[in-house]
Formats: sequence, structure tokens, C-alpha cells
Amino acid sequence: MLGDSKQIEEKLIEAARLAKENSYSPYSNFPVGAAVILEDGQIFKGTNIENASYGLTCCAERVALFSARTESSLKITGMALSLGHKDAKLPKKSLVPCGACRQVMSEFLDPATPIYIDGNRSFTMADLLPHPFKLD
Ligand code: THU
Repeated sequence: MLGDSKQIEEKLIEAARLAKENSYSPYSNFPVGAAVILEDGQIFKGTNIENASYGLTCCAERVALFSARTESSLKITGMALSLGHKDAKLPKKSLVPCGACRQVMSEFLDPATPIYIDGNRSFTMADLLPHPFKLD
């Protein structure tokens, strides 16, 4: 079935690493991969897609979330990220989602939902964004 939380973490990190391989990031040379898992075990991936008009870039997290929501309205129960080149020794402060993505993530992830980050600790949604903007 879905497996225990350690197995889910490993599977999701692996999916995020795979997604990162297809990053289109010729301007920043900073590839990012993201993966989300739904309550039925389906996994959706996303990678960052840059543009010559830099501001049109879309982060990996949003690509993964929008891809999942396009296919299914089931709840997202976990997310994983892999940021930067495999062998780059990046500081932990580089291995977290950007502020804009945290707000978008908070729309779909419950406060207790885990976010596993390759090479860093795991966070909950509430750790990353304790006071999200909401309209309700
Ligand atoms: N990026 C992401 O994909 N997610 C983040 O949370 C941080 C930044 C991308 C955007 C851009 O393509 C590159 O990383 C450098 O900012």
C-alpha cells in the first residue's frame, strides 16, 4: 500500500531528484525538483521552468502542485524538494522553498503536512509558513 512514513519520504525524495533532472534553468543554473503525494499514493512531480523574461519563471513547487491539482482533487499528504546541483555543498538556507511557493503550498497542504527536503531536515507546512494569508 502506501508504506510507512520513512518509505514515503524516500520515495518522494527520489521523485523530486528525478524531476530535478529535467529542470530548465539555463539562467540561474539552479535546478529544483518537487514531488507531492496524494492520499491514495499517487505522486506528481514538478521542476523549475525558467524564461528569458526572468519574471515568468515558475518554481518547481508550483509546477508539482498545479500538476497534481489538474489530475486530482484528492488531498496532498506529503511533499519533497531537492534543490541545487547534486554535488553542490549548499548552505541549509538555500535548501528551503521560496516565500511565494510557501503561500501557494499553504493553499493545498494542511499545517501538519510534512515537507521533506533533500539534504536538510523535514518541516511541516506550519513550520514554513505559520501565518498564511487566507480569505476565509
Ligand atoms: N526556485 C524554485 O524552483 N523553487 C524555490 O523554492 C526557490 C527557487 C527556482 C526558481 C529559479 O528557476 C531558480 O530556482 C533560482 O531562483
